[in-house]
Amino acid sequence: MSDISASAAGTFLVGGDIKVARLGYGAMRITGDGVWGAPRDRAEALRTLRALPGLGVDFIDTADSYGPDVSEELIAEALHPYDGLLIATKGGLTRHGPNIWRPLGRPEYLRQCVLMSMRRLKVDRIDLWQLHRVDPAVPMDEQFGEIAAMQKEGLIRHVGLSEVGIEEIKAAQKHFPVVTVQNKYNLGDRASEAVVDYCASHGIGFIPWYPLAAGALTGRTALTDSAASHGATPGQIALAWLLRRSPVMLPIPGTSKEAHLKENVAAAAIKLTEAEFAALSALGKA
Ligand SMILES: NC(=O)c1ccc[n+]([C@@H]2O[C@H](COP(=O)([O-])OP(=O)(O)OC[C@H]3O[C@@H](n4cnc5c(N)ncnc54)[C@H](OP(=O)(O)O)[C@@H]3O)[C@@H](O)[C@H]2O)c1
Repeated sequence: MSDISASAAGTFLVGGDIKVARLGYGAMRITGDGVWGAPRDRAEALRTLRALPGLGVDFIDTADSYGPDVSEELIAEALHPYDGLLIATKGGLTRHGPNIWRPLGRPEYLRQCVLMSMRRLKVDRIDLWQLHRVDPAVPMDEQFGEIAAMQKEGLIRHVGLSEVGIEEIKAAQKHFPVVTVQNKYNLGDRASEAVVDYCASHGIGFIPWYPLAAGALTGRTALTDSAASHGATPGQIALAWLLRRSPVMLPIPGTSKEAHLKENVAAAAIKLTEAEFAALSALGKA
């Protein structure tokens, strides 16, 4: 194993029984432009995936709609049979072209999503299946009821949600235990602050997507000062801030390049001081 390791971030028990390092990997970027089609450099995408276990990254986030199909297929090619890895996927979005995503939560479609992800990932059960979006055009109970049925049948081990508020989490919890919530959240985008706290108080993992959106903040003093004092990049400080924000935080920075992966995983070892954390927290809210 490399001296860079995601294990430096500590661990989290997904669903109370799957232990993962708190710094994971998002597999949306190993696709073409607009998350559509094959990646420009397929060999580098496979190298990046194969580097994950050696870097202690054992939590990989993907979705049937990334490509579509491409991300799951590359993960299977590079990493099946996933010894000690948690492959979390999602379903419930249809694709009609680059950067076009439309929710479809009809029960029969959700079931097809799960069955097709199982086929592409070459597994007989999805360990963490996330509803990519709640479809506003389908009654929530129908969507959640079908997911609960698939969990009962053993097609899904644990269930997560994506882009939801507290009320939707509560509505879903009437049907199945919600073990993770994946919402957009980073130093500069804190709209899900209350959801992070709700997850922490209920032992639900919070998976912040777009965790590296620090670009707009890199000119700000607190971020660049922290980066300089840790010999780190602003992106690494943005990840360290997320890890420090809550013990249920499971960042999944996404990249198509092995060098970027190593840089991101190295952030697991950065420990921010209380003063740095406070200054960065204020910066993101400014
Ligand atoms: N639930 C949802 O609705 C949802 C939505 C979006 C994303 N996600 C998930 O969240 C994951 C992360 O989100 P994201 O990929 O949008 O955003 P991100 O992780 O914040 O940023 C990824 C971008 O940053 C670049 N990057 C990564 N590491 C870098 C480094 N060390 N130096 C320079 N550039 C770097 C990547 O390009 P390179 O490939 O060139 O490194 C890519 O363009 C996705 O992979 C996906 O699994 C979920």
